[in-house]
Amino acid sequence: MTDRCRRLVMTSHTYLKDSAIENLDILRDGDRNNRRDGVASVLIKRGDRFFQVMEGPADMVGAALERMLEDRRHYDVTVLNDRPDATPRLGAPGLNYVQRPSDDPGSDLEEVARIDPEAALETATIH
Ligand SMILES: Cc1cc2nc3c(=O)[nH]c(=O)nc-3n(C[C@H](O)[C@H](O)[C@H](O)COP(=O)(O)O)c2cc1C
Repeated sequence: MTDRCRRLVMTSHTYLKDSAIENLDILRDGDRNNRRDGVASVLIKRGDRFFQVMEGPADMVGAALERMLEDRRHYDVTVLNDRPDATPRLGAPGLNYVQRPSDDPGSDLEEVARIDPEAALETATIH
């Protein structure tokens, strides 16, 4: 039987430019923590928006969310979808960072769907 995990889909706003060194700080620290905590995550930056899918042990995902809510490098953090018993699909623990052009067409949900179609479907269902 496949292990289940908690999966969060989040979005937030940021003042960080694509070239900001802080993006690399987030990537370095998040990757280190996620590897330590067994959390797998994909973080997408598109212009002034972040989108993130995170999955792993419920307590570790919850702890990461708590830290992120206190982080001044982004704001208006919104949890789009939170499943306690998802099927893991992101692979190895860590933080994978993708930066897309700010004029890349596509809605928030389309952005999530690129990395996790099932999560996008569930998110669409509850909104
Ligand atoms: C958009 C965004 C995504 C982040 N993603 C993660 C993450 O997946 N895991 C994590 O531990 N921290 C993440 N962080 C960083 C946390 O907010 C926090 O700075 C960090 O966990 C603190 O780590 P430290 O206590 O080891 O210094 C993210 C921050 C931002 C702004």
